[in-house]
Amino acid sequence: MIKKGIILSGGMGTRMSPLTKAVNKQLLPIYDKPLIFYPLSILMLSKIKNVLIIVNKGQLKQYKKIIPDGKRLGMNITYKEQDKPKGLPDAFILGKNFIKKDKVAMILGDNFFYGQSLTKMLTKCVNITDGAKVILHKVVNPKNFGVAQVKDKKIVKIKEKPKKFFSDLAITGLYFFDNKVIEYAKKLKPSKRNELEIVDLLNQYRIKNRLSAELIGRGGAWLDTGSIEDFYKTSNFVSAIENQQGFKIACLEEISLSNGWIKRSDIKKSIEFYGNCNYSKYLKKIIS
Ligand code: TTP
Repeated sequence: MIKKGIILSGGMGTRMSPLTKAVNKQLLPIYDKPLIFYPLSILMLSKIKNVLIIVNKGQLKQYKKIIPDGKRLGMNITYKEQDKPKGLPDAFILGKNFIKKDKVAMILGDNFFYGQSLTKMLTKCVNITDGAKVILHKVVNPKNFGVAQVKDKKIVKIKEKPKKFFSDLAITGLYFFDNKVIEYAKKLKPSKRNELEIVDLLNQYRIKNRLSAELIGRGGAWLDTGSIEDFYKTSNFVSAIENQQGFKIACLEEISLSNGWIKRSDIKKSIEFYGNCNYSKYLKKIIS
């Protein structure tokens, strides 16, 4: 079972400047929480307790203000700084001492997932024995994404931003790897845009027929929050669900409690930490 996860939470956030000049994108709000809560909640729903968050050099202090070390959540959360955005596979080079001999999940700090059968799918993913697994989602504009073609649950072709249509299944920013990922990431050469490419990494698994996929169906949502429009769209989505149902999406303490990592009484520390706000009111409701 995969017990370790990395959140790649650096990046320049160029498309969202000037918002991202002083604050990292993943600390900006999606409705009522910082964006980073959402990918962290996905790792927690996968029952991953041991998390490495990769952040930009110089931004560690800000991150630690909101997520100090995971203790309040019954988790072990550590950080590593990235000098500059060298590409997604850099996560496994920077994270090699964290991963050690284990398998690992990786999620991009700006990816949002939601859906009823999500937890069931995540359980399947963390149980991979070897190879790699990606999560796919149908999109109307495959030209803008890394795209995969699937046959019998195995991926037979992948391409970054394909000019010619061959599939409408986009590769989302959530990946599950065996320990070979460190060796494969180290072998990569930077692409024309001078980054290590995730497609090149995945291709090393694909050519050995060791790259499989899970599909998020039409009942599930995947939103990639790269632009200001995406931020508003995702915020509206969260607001609509939360205000209709009364349940919060990505309430970290609630997930931790249901995972059995903390007790009801531990949540009091979080209420004190967040102060008088709606998030705390929700936590109070959980423990009452
Ligand atoms: P991108 O969308 O490639 O980059 P970005 O978020 O900085 O935005 P922009 O294109 O507007 O500059 O990154 C996807 C996610 O991965 C995002 O959460 C940032 C993170 N990331 C890193 O942490 N390190 C990296 O080296 C790269 C390439 C991305």
